[in-house]
Amino acid sequence: MGLMLGSLRRTDYKTLFRYIKLRTHQLLCVILRVAKLFPLTAHGRYRRMEEFKGQPRLPKFAVPKRYDIRLKPDLSACKFGGSVAIDLDIVDNTRFIVLNAVELSIDNASVSFSPRRSSKVFQPSKVELIDEDGILVLEFTETLPIGVGVLAIGFEGILNDRMKGFYRSTYVHNGEKKNMAVTQFEPVEARRCFPCWDEPACKATFKITLDVPSELVALSNMPVSEEKVHGALKTVSYQESPIMSTYLVAVVVGLFDYVEDHTSDGVKVRVYSQVGKANQGKFALHVAVKTLELYKEYFAVPYSLPKLDMIAIPDFAAGAMENYGLVTYRETALLYDDQHSAAANKQRVAIVVTHELAHQWFGNLVTMEWWTHLWLNEGFATWISYLAADSLFPEWKIWTQFLAETTEGLRLDGLQESHPIEVDINHAGEVDEIFDAISYRKGASVIRMLQSYLGAKPFQGSLASYIKKHAYSNAKTEDLWAALEEGSGEPVKKLMNSWTKQKGYPVVSVKAKDQKLKFEQSQFLSSGSSGEGQWIIPITLCCGSYDKQKNFLLQTKSETLDMEESLGCSVAACSWIKLNVDQTGFYRVKYDEDLAAKLRHAIERQELTATDRFGILDDSFALCMACQQPLTSLLALMGAYTEELDYTVLSNLISTSLKVDRIVADARPELADNTRQFFINLFRNSAERLGWESKKGESHLDALLRGEILTALAELEDDETLNEASRRFQVYLNDRNTPLLPPDTRKAAYVAIMQKVSTSNRSGFESLLRVYRETDLSQEKTRILSALASCPDKGITLEVLNFLLSSEVRSQDAVFGLYVSREGRETAWKWLKDNWDHIEKTYGSGFLITRFVSAVVSPFASFEKAKEVEEFFAPRTKPSIARTIKQSIERVHINAKWVQSIQNEEDLADAVIELAYGEDY
Ligand code: BES
Ligand code: ZN
Repeated sequence: MGLMLGSLRRTDYKTLFRYIKLRTHQLLCVILRVAKLFPLTAHGRYRRMEEFKGQPRLPKFAVPKRYDIRLKPDLSACKFGGSVAIDLDIVDNTRFIVLNAVELSIDNASVSFSPRRSSKVFQPSKVELIDEDGILVLEFTETLPIGVGVLAIGFEGILNDRMKGFYRSTYVHNGEKKNMAVTQFEPVEARRCFPCWDEPACKATFKITLDVPSELVALSNMPVSEEKVHGALKTVSYQESPIMSTYLVAVVVGLFDYVEDHTSDGVKVRVYSQVGKANQGKFALHVAVKTLELYKEYFAVPYSLPKLDMIAIPDFAAGAMENYGLVTYRETALLYDDQHSAAANKQRVAIVVTHELAHQWFGNLVTMEWWTHLWLNEGFATWISYLAADSLFPEWKIWTQFLAETTEGLRLDGLQESHPIEVDINHAGEVDEIFDAISYRKGASVIRMLQSYLGAKPFQGSLASYIKKHAYSNAKTEDLWAALEEGSGEPVKKLMNSWTKQKGYPVVSVKAKDQKLKFEQSQFLSSGSSGEGQWIIPITLCCGSYDKQKNFLLQTKSETLDMEESLGCSVAACSWIKLNVDQTGFYRVKYDEDLAAKLRHAIERQELTATDRFGILDDSFALCMACQQPLTSLLALMGAYTEELDYTVLSNLISTSLKVDRIVADARPELADNTRQFFINLFRNSAERLGWESKKGESHLDALLRGEILTALAELEDDETLNEASRRFQVYLNDRNTPLLPPDTRKAAYVAIMQKVSTSNRSGFESLLRVYRETDLSQEKTRILSALASCPDKGITLEVLNFLLSSEVRSQDAVFGLYVSREGRETAWKWLKDNWDHIEKTYGSGFLITRFVSAVVSPFASFEKAKEVEEFFAPRTKPSIARTIKQSIERVHINAKWVQSIQNEEDLADAVIELAYGEDY
């Protein structure tokens, strides 16, 4: 410093002042930096245990780096013991360690450091497990040293029967009932197995060791590194995993067979099943090997573990779970039996496998930062599972079938009680409910919308760089947008925020005036009211032919398009105008009367693609239900589909028919027979074309369609179908391999049988129960359960419902039997009320309970019933079912309004007769 304090002039004082200021600033910076290293503030920040309660996330003054876990399940006593040593980075001065644990009893805990740091072993002065928050708080009398230490905890727990955490599943082997031990940790249940930082962003490596009976198969995420047998027990150690989130850790212990194959780059893939069922794993194995190879190309990153195991678990709450390297499945979602599985079962297996394997990259390698971004995992895996299935089975036309996903997304998101894709999560208990059609189906649909806007190539390139950038780490929704924005040069974030940060979606009204088309967006709600939302909508439109297309972004409430200017043709000259070409957009379209009529004719003349035919029908149905279009126009439109051949379009026509059938029975019972006749006529052609038996070499889609058409005709009580079904069923009872009733048509036959069953005519019911008891194929069991529920007899309905809660039905399967007939819905509601305490106790801790509420409540169609339901649940609401109760009640209101509107349609009777019996009737 060249300043001499003795000889200062006036200007020098200024310099001196500046100098002091600078120096003080530097000093302050140093103090702050030191304070960061030795934070004095944190020391006093947490003084009492109470401060940790009710927090959505764990405090981060200790960060786990590595878990060394040892577990010893006792399959007969249904208990387990365990110990965990967690390498921790203590980054903040603290007297507390706060981590997650639930329903574990803690035997001992201590923290030790390398002798260079502290030779002392720190024992907590207080250990408190706060079950309602799922946290374990260890309090020490003195501050723990900053740096790397080892937290060791010994614990015990119960192998529960609730299909979460570390649980038991049962199976029969050589006539003997046995238990297996299984884990299901997503979303927040790893804490039920071992104390841990159970948040997706707390990634660490896992070294697992199991002590298990010597004769059993014991699997975990990684390959076995060492196995030592000592008499009846063996100790199995697994290689240490790469860093990963706790919810992806997995263990399975039981008796299994397997089939094995390898990918072209040497990843060992196995499918495990119950002993004797190994062959049923072959189809999934084939799909898995091909899919791993495909994703390696798509993401430009190879599968990151040395092996992949997939295993069928007899008791499993979800459909499947993507645990890193050890994917667990329901039997119905993994096993395929050549003789007794249907085409629909085969497709389900393919879609579930491709979905779970997508997570090995999207979810496991790159993990959402917090549950708010769950949709990234689930929406993306759902979308890409179709991409993979399309590449493996192009003849399935799976992208057309994808529209069934979009429809379900639109259906849920049309409720006032929906939620945004990115949803705030403030408590672990709230996570279960967001594994719903918004995260999965709306999520997948907005990804499809974006991909079609950006183009397949830039989309894939950006995804590959996203995966590379965030591998072995975490990401948020905006990280994905940033990658896509960079790769495409388009304003992805701005566009997509309008779809992920607000709930709902728009309906675009199109009106033709002079030579112009006027577009106007407003939020679509199934209740008929209109919401506040506004979106940036990628509009696509074609006129008269698919060669004439115009695309633009609708960024404002309304816009006008000069057709002559933009497409070189007048509105009048277009034989039809279709928006949302190929149904890639997540919105509905409402056409003015003229445009709608032109589209109807275009359908009759078969000028539109299957996806567009699907979209027109689906939008019209939704608008009708929202009382924005009379039922007569929906029925007239449905009449344009008599020559329809496409599976997905017909499948939608079936579900639309069955819904309209029900609402007409409520609103205008005197017209019910005629509307039924009209629907039966719609399906007659297809039924005749397909028949009851599989044809040699027929397409997968025909096999799917046959099942659905015949089931619909059975539900509509078409005499011919009921008689034919009963004849074939008798043959089947004597010969389960008869070609007269192949797997694809079995459900139709079962539904048909149940239409004729009553308390005084039980034989069909008894026969079905016999088939249920005799089969060991889960797909056959669920087929039967869903058919049993369709019985219109109230006495039988009650018997069926009670059967669902008996020990003969696994609790994972009861939900299939809840979708009762219209005649049975009152019985089901009374049954739900009478059994609520039991249902709450059995299912209350998982997401399956939401199905009990929605399946039983949603079919009602009166305001009185809505009120009754509201009153019943008012004192019984819990965070895990709160949203579902509100959504189900909203649906009842929507139905009730719809009934009123149909009652006010004066020309309905004439229209229905004309449609059912022709103009001359
Ligand atoms: N991650 C889920 C499994 C899951 C669901 C865990 C709910 C916890 C709560 C898995 O990847 C999944 O999405 N499974 C689907 C199947 C898929 C094909 C849609 C399922 O379970 O239905
Ligand atoms: Zn998933």
